Amino acid sequence: MHEHEHGEQHFGAAAQAAEWDARYRERDGAMWSGRPNGRLGAEVAALTPGRALDVGCGEGADAIWLARRGWTVTAIDISEVAMYRAREASHPAGASVEWICGDALQTPFRTGSFDLVSMQYPALPKAAGEAAVRRLLDTVRPGGLLLAVYHDLDDEHREHMKSQGVDPADYVGADDLGRLLGDDFTVELYAVEPRIDPPPGTPHIADVVLRARRR
Ligand SMILES: C[S@@+](CC[C@H](N)C(=O)[O-])C[C@H]1O[C@@H](n2cnc3c(N)ncnc32)[C@H](O)[C@@H]1O
Repeated sequence: MHEHEHGEQHFGAAAQAAEWDARYRERDGAMWSGRPNGRLGAEVAALTPGRALDVGCGEGADAIWLARRGWTVTAIDISEVAMYRAREASHPAGASVEWICGDALQTPFRTGSFDLVSMQYPALPKAAGEAAVRRLLDTVRPGGLLLAVYHDLDDEHREHMKSQGVDPADYVGADDLGRLLGDDFTVELYAVEPRIDPPPGTPHIADVVLRARRR
C-alpha cells in the first residue's frame, strides 16, 4: 500500500468521523465539561459580536456561549454524535447556532466571511493538505481574528498519545498554522500560556495560544 493510500484510509473524512464518533460514544453523557473554553472567554469577551466560526466545535459549549453573547455563530464538527449533543444543549440554552456536521477542511465557507474563527484544541489532519488549511484561514475577514488554542504537550504526553495510536505530528499544529498565515495576518500572540479555568483533574494545564489578525 502506498503511504498516501494509507493516509487517505486513516485520515479520510469518513475514517476521522467514525473515529471521533466512537470516542464520543464511549461515554453516555458528555465528553467535555459543557463550559466554554477559558481562553476563548478571555480573548473574546471584550469584542463586539459579529460572525464567528467554531472549527471542531465538539459538544458545542463555545458556540452556545458565543451565540448567547450576541455572535452569529456557525459551528462545524465532523462527528455526528458530538453534533447531536451540541444541538441538544443549544435548545435549553436558547442559543441559535448554525450547526454543520462535516469536515471543516472540505466545507466551502466563503472567503473573508467571519470576524472570528475559533479553533479550540482542533484535531485537523495534515493529510488534508495545506491548501485546505489555507482556505479555512482565508475565511477570516480583513480586520477579523483567528484564535487557535492547542494543548502544550510535553514529550511524555506525545509518547503516550502515540501509544494510543494518535501521533500529534499527524495533525495541523500551531506552528503549521503560523507558517500558513503568511503576510495576510499579523500575529498578535503566539505563546505558551497557563490554561484558563481548566476542567478539574485535567493534565492539560498549559495552552499554546495563537491569536492573529487579518490585515
Ligand atoms: C479535542 S476536540 C475539541 C472540541 C471542542 N473544540 C472543545 O474544545 O471542547 C476536537 C474536535 O474536532 C473534531 N474534528 C476532528 N477533525 C475534524 C474536521 N476535519 N472537521 C471538523 N471537526 C473535526 C472532533 O470531532 C472533535 O469534536
